[in-house]
Amino acid sequence: MKPDLSINFAGIKFKNPVLTASGTFGYGYELADLIFLKQLGGIVTKTITLEPRFGNLQPRIAEVASGMLNSIGLQNIGIRAFVEEPLEKLNKIGAPVIVSVAGASTNECVETVKILSKQNGISAIELNLSCPNLKKKIVCHDLPLMRDVIKGVKKVSKVPVIAKLSPLVTDIAELALAAQNAGADGVTLTNTYPAMAIDVKTFKHKLSTVKGGMSGACVKPMSVRCVYDSYGSIKIPIIGCGGIMTGEDAVEFMLAGATMVSVGSASLVSPKKLINIIDEVENILKEKNIKSAKQIIGMLNTVKK
Ligand SMILES: Cc1cc2nc3c(=O)[nH]c(=O)nc-3n(C[C@H](O)[C@H](O)[C@H](O)COP(=O)(O)O)c2cc1C
Repeated sequence: MKPDLSINFAGIKFKNPVLTASGTFGYGYELADLIFLKQLGGIVTKTITLEPRFGNLQPRIAEVASGMLNSIGLQNIGIRAFVEEPLEKLNKIGAPVIVSVAGASTNECVETVKILSKQNGISAIELNLSCPNLKKKIVCHDLPLMRDVIKGVKKVSKVPVIAKLSPLVTDIAELALAAQNAGADGVTLTNTYPAMAIDVKTFKHKLSTVKGGMSGACVKPMSVRCVYDSYGSIKIPIIGCGGIMTGEDAVEFMLAGATMVSVGSASLVSPKKLINIIDEVENILKEKNIKSAKQIIGMLNTVKK
């Protein structure tokens, strides 16, 4: 029998637990003609800010062992241009859309979400509180600011708000709990890991910004640990993110406590990878005779709620 892959996340229904990860699938609409996209659990857009951003100078991508570094710096067209065309095209795909939003202040985030709240066809907001590639401090490293941003956005958002957190903290469970207590409806664990690389042929830094965010297969065990540690401390659901390349990786995150997963670097290899991951999750559940994907969430987590 075909296992039931459907998931309820913060009151939103998804046909399966696999999402795109922010920033690795463009605005989502660029690939809208690929009919397989409608099979996705959902699409998380690249992060949008109130004003357009040009991002950082090149080079802003570098390969490292089993992963990559990026320092894109939130290049995007700004919220006003985003709600004009991309959102309209995105809605044609037929998968729930989660819009990723960031800002350097509470006011910037609130104003961006106010504009989004006038639109239809958005299932949730993912608040990017964890971009490592800006000159300013990472928002979730400033707890009062993080709380203020979440509270402010919650007041103006008509859809659930998911807080995307940085793994670079002493206690990720405490941070996830702080996000929950500020009103977040879910958390994404995690964004990239601050890192750097030097080219010893040229004696130059590999990124124009020197440091960037590391992602890909190499970060998976660290992100699984973040999900595992947080699951017992919070009541809100978790999107697991970091190094998911296969269905096995996705299942691993779910066993640790993730309700859904988002896939980034793997879809830069090929957007079709996302569909393979969905099929592989289904096959694993079938092999184990598990009827529903919901059953495995936190199955191997011994940290008590
Ligand atoms: C090129 C690139 C751009 C990214 N841009 C964003 C972004 O705009 N907003 C965001 O929240 N995360 C961004 N991320 C982080 C991913 O969403 C994800 O959290 C991270 O890459 C870990 O997942 P992965 O190992 O599957 O790639 C970006 C990652 C990459 C590789």
